[in-house]
Amino acid sequence: MSRIVLRVNGREHAVEADPETPLLFVLTDQLGLRGPRFGCGLAQCGSCTVLRNGQAIRSCVTAAGEVGTDEITTLDGLGTPENPHPIQRAFIEEGASQCGFCLSGVILTAKATLDANPHASDDEIRKAMNGVLCRCFTHTRMIRAIRKYAEENKHENA
Ligand code: FES
Ligand code: FES
Repeated sequence: MSRIVLRVNGREHAVEADPETPLLFVLTDQLGLRGPRFGCGLAQCGSCTVLRNGQAIRSCVTAAGEVGTDEITTLDGLGTPENPHPIQRAFIEEGASQCGFCLSGVILTAKATLDANPHASDDEIRKAMNGVLCRCFTHTRMIRAIRKYAEENKHENA
């Protein structure tokens, strides 16, 4: 066991953990976050996605001990129920979530893609979302919500 200090959602957290522990388990079991979810544990579904310095990564295959001082953002850290992030608001407005299990992967991957390239085409967005699985098959509404956020984001970055 080692003392690991993580920067998560704008705050520093010190935990006792084996450095090889998947970041996902530290975030959920030790920090009590409910955004990232355990789906496959094999980097294949995306439900454990978090942002690491703005890039979408799969926390089920990232060792907690190798994160260092990088800033981790989970879906919990994006907005609040009272003040959702614009991409979360777009999902609410489009009714784009069912059970919500996949949303860390869907929302954070889309956000990271559009933050890096506000002018991403539909094809580029679809390609980036490849490998992010939704069991509820709300893909059409999700793409609509992502497109809505993309349009707003584009204007902000114009
Ligand atoms: S739980 Fe990490 S990709 Fe499926
Ligand atoms: S909304 Fe249920 S898995 Fe995607």
